[in-house]
Amino acid sequence: MNNNNRNFDFEPGVKRTYTPEEAGHDKFRRPVTRQHRRRKRDFNAGIVIITVVFAIVVGVCAGVILLGDREPISEAGKYIEEQSLLNESGIVTEPSETEPPAELQINVTEEQMHMGNLILVNYAYPYAFAEAEVNEIVTISEYMNENYYVRNANMKLRKSIVEIFNRMTGDMYAATGYRCLQINSSYRSYQEQVDTYAYYKDTNGEEYAKTYVANPGYSEHHTGLALDLNSITDSGGTSPLIYNEKCQWFMDNCEEYGFVLRYDAAKKDITKINGESWHYRYVGKPHSIIMKSMNFCLEEYTDYIKSFTKDTYVLTYNKGTVSKVEYDIDFDAEYMIYYVPCAGEKTVITVPNFCEYEISGNNVDGYVVTVAKRNQ
Ligand code: DAL
Ligand code: ZN
Repeated sequence: MNNNNRNFDFEPGVKRTYTPEEAGHDKFRRPVTRQHRRRKRDFNAGIVIITVVFAIVVGVCAGVILLGDREPISEAGKYIEEQSLLNESGIVTEPSETEPPAELQINVTEEQMHMGNLILVNYAYPYAFAEAEVNEIVTISEYMNENYYVRNANMKLRKSIVEIFNRMTGDMYAATGYRCLQINSSYRSYQEQVDTYAYYKDTNGEEYAKTYVANPGYSEHHTGLALDLNSITDSGGTSPLIYNEKCQWFMDNCEEYGFVLRYDAAKKDITKINGESWHYRYVGKPHSIIMKSMNFCLEEYTDYIKSFTKDTYVLTYNKGTVSKVEYDIDFDAEYMIYYVPCAGEKTVITVPNFCEYEISGNNVDGYVVTVAKRNQ
């Protein structure tokens, strides 16, 4: 725009007095007549009109160029633009015309603190029965494969867990040739837990029921993430897993598929539940592996994870090694894990971009973020 302006040495409409030397020819020395003055007025009016038209054209062009470019004024400006792209589900959609951000801001609700694979459900923390999770419950027999059994055809579980169980028992059969696992109990509604508690109280007494059966509303079986397993013997009967050597592969490898033995007799003081060699809980990888290697029950692991935040140190897991390191979007491990406290109705969680991540509530006071290393 400035380059164009250089063709004018005066502002439109502002009178400029020329010296004869500047003018450089005789007409400025001639006597001034009326006709001469009129011609001069016409000439000046013409110049003004041309100038105004030119200014309008230049102004319009400049406006078009600025709007077309829309570069954010600063990095801060860019951030605000990205924030405004948070959609209803809380996931940031990437702006198409700006450079992709190194991190994403994810919105989570307070309700989501009660959802996810890592929720702690025990005597102190009831299950919230979030609609989104209850809707994931399916009838196992409709989705299962031929590599295991269910006690009855109506048993239910979270669909994602059936799929993982299918894969795991398929691998078990491939590795051992055994198909001996049976799901003995799985998802239980509030009413089913009421009935279960009443049954054990009636048959074994209140003390027994209290230490083996959770109070209705406080059972992991409500989550669709818990399974009671036994085994089918060669003679067609049933047997606890721990007495059937054909189930050893499962007991040795279930962590690789995200399952943990939930109620270790040695942790009874913490869980308030007696040892249950049959009750397995899905928490997801690598949490299952870390819990087993560090001998943590879920109560202990929930507490442990809380000491890892993005602003202090995060936890990384790499091929069996757990490390405490500073947060880095280019972390050098299979997984990076950190905790984010719940900030109320809405919490914004930052995760590295271009990575697979999972956010699970802990059902206590915050969220656990698990980031898988980006494929190089
Ligand atoms: N048996 C476990 C503790 C439950 O009832 O949830
Ligand atoms: Zn159970």
